[in-house]
Amino acid sequence: MAIPPPERADVAVPPPEGADIDVPPPEGPPRRPVISLRKITKVYRMGEIEVAALRGVSLDVLPGELVSVMGASGSGKSTMMNILGCLDTPSSGRYLLDGVDVRRLDETILARVRNRKIGFVFQSFNLIPRTSAVANVEMPLAYAGVGARERRARAMAALEEVGLADRAHHLPNELSGGQQQRAAVARAIATNPSLILADEPTGNLDTRSTHEIMDIFARLNQDGRTVVLITHEPEVAELTRRIVRLRDGLVLSDESTAGEHLHASDMGAR
Ligand SMILES: Nc1ncnc2c1ncn2[C@@H]1O[C@H](COP(=O)(O)OP(=O)(O)OP(=O)(O)O)[C@@H](O)[C@H]1O
Ligand SMILES: [Mg+2]
Repeated sequence: MAIPPPERADVAVPPPEGADIDVPPPEGPPRRPVISLRKITKVYRMGEIEVAALRGVSLDVLPGELVSVMGASGSGKSTMMNILGCLDTPSSGRYLLDGVDVRRLDETILARVRNRKIGFVFQSFNLIPRTSAVANVEMPLAYAGVGARERRARAMAALEEVGLADRAHHLPNELSGGQQQRAAVARAIATNPSLILADEPTGNLDTRSTHEIMDIFARLNQDGRTVVLITHEPEVAELTRRIVRLRDGLVLSDESTAGEHLHASDMGAR
């Protein structure tokens, strides 16, 4: 149970040693959601059979939020994530990304939005084999048209950020699972996207690597990036400030865990 705040804001009570201080959001006009889903449906057709993967999902995510998405296998999590990332289109409903209806964007612009605005992390790392970590991280920068010298510098900075600079010239199969996922995170942040989408990023990792990845996400989020991640692990979801649960293609619950603001290194210690 969180301790309720003092009645009067001017009664300054020093927080206990090491406690997180909850800074109230600055006053101002309400921020526009970075993600706004309205009654999104997705029907997959396989011959005669139709699968309704999403049956009317509405969800707003504000800039700077750190959200986890949970739900049983087949509940529609990846389907929703692919729509959020403009990798797939809904059957019906509306998706506003930064206030822009993505249906109105042509494929060229969508590709640019994906490249510049969104960073993806997948469960299976998806690094290109026989290609060094730094060359993998450079890939989205190459698509963005960044020149070779700057590309290398920015890729190295991204690897530095995830603590992998010393492995820059290793091939994926010369890296541990946790290191491969950190390289994948570096690739996702190389173009400096404001939105990071991760589909079970710790699903293939041991506890220690899970901590490392979640610490990186927490830091990226503290820098102001919006992070949405899918997870099956309650300990991972508890590290985020909001948990959205899906069931059978619908939002079952949307729970704010505000105030907890834990650090990944607390995992298992509670
Ligand atoms: N490309 C596809 N073609 C046909 N059906 C699909 C396709 N992708 C997903 N589905 C179906 O849509 C439903 C939702 O799948 P989805 O992958 O979104 O689930 P999930 O919540 O991510 O599950 P998991 O936890 O196992 O990853 C499932 O019934 C699945 O079989
Ligand atoms: Mg999935």
